[in-house]
Amino acid sequence: MCNENIPKITRIKFNISFKFLCLDIKFVIKSYLAAFYDEWCKKLVIIIAKYYLAMGNLKAAITGVAKYVPETLLTNADLEKIVDTSDEWITSRTGIKQRHIFKEEGKATSDMATRMVENLLKKTNTSADEIDLLICATITPDMTFPDTANTICSKVGISNAFAFDINAACSGFLFALTTGAKFVESGSHKKVVVIGVDFMSSIIDYTDRTTCVIFGDGGGAVLLEPNEEYGIEDSIFKGDGDGRQYLHMKAGGSLKRPTLATIEDKEHFVFQDGRPVFKAAVKGMTTTFNSLLERNEIGHDDVDWLVPHQANMRIINSVADMLDFPKEKVMVNIQNYGNTTAGTLPLCLADYESQLKKGDKLVLTAFGGGFTWGSTLLTWAYDGDE
Ligand code: UT7
Repeated sequence: MCNENIPKITRIKFNISFKFLCLDIKFVIKSYLAAFYDEWCKKLVIIIAKYYLAMGNLKAAITGVAKYVPETLLTNADLEKIVDTSDEWITSRTGIKQRHIFKEEGKATSDMATRMVENLLKKTNTSADEIDLLICATITPDMTFPDTANTICSKVGISNAFAFDINAACSGFLFALTTGAKFVESGSHKKVVVIGVDFMSSIIDYTDRTTCVIFGDGGGAVLLEPNEEYGIEDSIFKGDGDGRQYLHMKAGGSLKRPTLATIEDKEHFVFQDGRPVFKAAVKGMTTTFNSLLERNEIGHDDVDWLVPHQANMRIINSVADMLDFPKEKVMVNIQNYGNTTAGTLPLCLADYESQLKKGDKLVLTAFGGGFTWGSTLLTWAYDGDE
């Protein structure tokens, strides 16, 4: 630029042009960067919006189910030899033909649950380390405390999870399922195990014909994982503490501590006044079913499966009749297991798993001690033969 041979005027012109050229380049680069920045800002906003939208719609889908029932069978014929009953009475009044009884020395509820969870992890190709929450619904914990859920984690080798029990009797699995789903829906937890299990024979008086013919041992476990399309849709749950007079264990809690007298009076077993429980069960399950469908603007025809708590075949039939719901779409396995309390619903899901299709709408409904009851609507996330 300092070449003396170039006339001064030309040099000035050139310098001015060069300055303008630099300004132009700066402007082009600035504009380009601004456009680039704008574009990326827009993209970022869309990504964040999508993330929040997805968070809002995130569902908890059942991605696997496994069951465990003990091998030992207690049939109606066996019970005829123990108490004053008959196969005819039990079958016609309850629909039950046999129950599974856990008879392994030194084993407890957590041992049945451990087998369910091990089976579940295997089926779903999940390692124990991946589980971040485990909830166990049961009224027959290994001990009053600590909870059974943490014992299960310890026995399975689940070391990265927090765990706790839910005591809501026959509604326990349903309450636990929705509780677990909330952790998945919030985005805080990715793999949640929900168990419904009971060791009813440990709290049944086998001289009381009104209860010993009904209950059995076992249950099931499900895995909940995030899903944008399928999963738990909605639940309606209710409770009425006044119902405790009809279904409870008289002693062993802080109200009536265990003594020799409470043992002699057989107060550490299930007490049930069946008739009021029966009526409340039919009412509770049908009303929450109807409210749930109404709230979700779903007709009865849209429901592919009704999954009722298996307490009594007459209760199941009454519920289906009152709802005018086709019997072939009602899951029933009470004849094989009796009433396994928190275990009945996952046992149904496990037994019917092969018939379930992705997108099927299921309503699970339960009623139990407390009183506790409710219904849950969910969309099944995988084909049964997968
Ligand atoms: O899962 C938790 C919630 N629980 C339930 O949902 C259970 C709800 N309740 C029921 O399922 C029924 O009430 C029971 C199955 C428990 C009882 O059936 P029921 O038709 O309500 O019988 P009941 O208690 O009214 O008894 C009718 C008769 C009685 O004899 P009397 O007084 O009429 O001479 C009982 O003593 O049947 C008698 N009975 C039996 N007879 C033969 C009761 N249990 C037996 C038995 N074998 N095992």
